[in-house]
Amino acid sequence: MVATTRKVNPPDGDRRWKIVEATMRRHGYASTALIETLHSIQETFGFVSREALNYVAESLNIPPAKVFGVATFYNLFNLNPVGEHVFSLCTGTACYVKGAGEIVDFMKEEFGLEPGQTTPDGKLTFMVARCVGACGLAPVMILDGEVVGKLGVEEMKAKIREWVNHDK
Ligand code: FES
Repeated sequence: MVATTRKVNPPDGDRRWKIVEATMRRHGYASTALIETLHSIQETFGFVSREALNYVAESLNIPPAKVFGVATFYNLFNLNPVGEHVFSLCTGTACYVKGAGEIVDFMKEEFGLEPGQTTPDGKLTFMVARCVGACGLAPVMILDGEVVGKLGVEEMKAKIREWVNHDK
């Protein structure tokens, strides 16, 4: 069977959907483009809304339940609006044994944040991921998309403080 290109209208008139559409087009609207498309949405909008999931499902011809399952399984995608800055911590095994657990405690003590929460002023969101596929850099944290790894626990804390305060 020959794959056909699908033209589905995006959820709204936001021009940023063109970026997402370009990602899907580059992959010929194949179902294997799913993860990359979800990444593209997150990078462009900061989170993946329910409407976005339906749009991707229709565009790539994948059942919506499957798209939702993938989006939640990897724990890499924010399904709710996030703060201005996003701190993601890998808590996969390699990172956990190198101190990621202590950073989870630190985020609670220092900023009052549990994984998945945003500060009341909307400035900072704390996310955790199971394994971001960079175990050689463990412990890995991602500060607004910048991957930082191979730091000791105290160095990680210092880096987080510096990054948060930079914006004040
Ligand atoms: S466990 Fe953290 S990158 Fe793999």
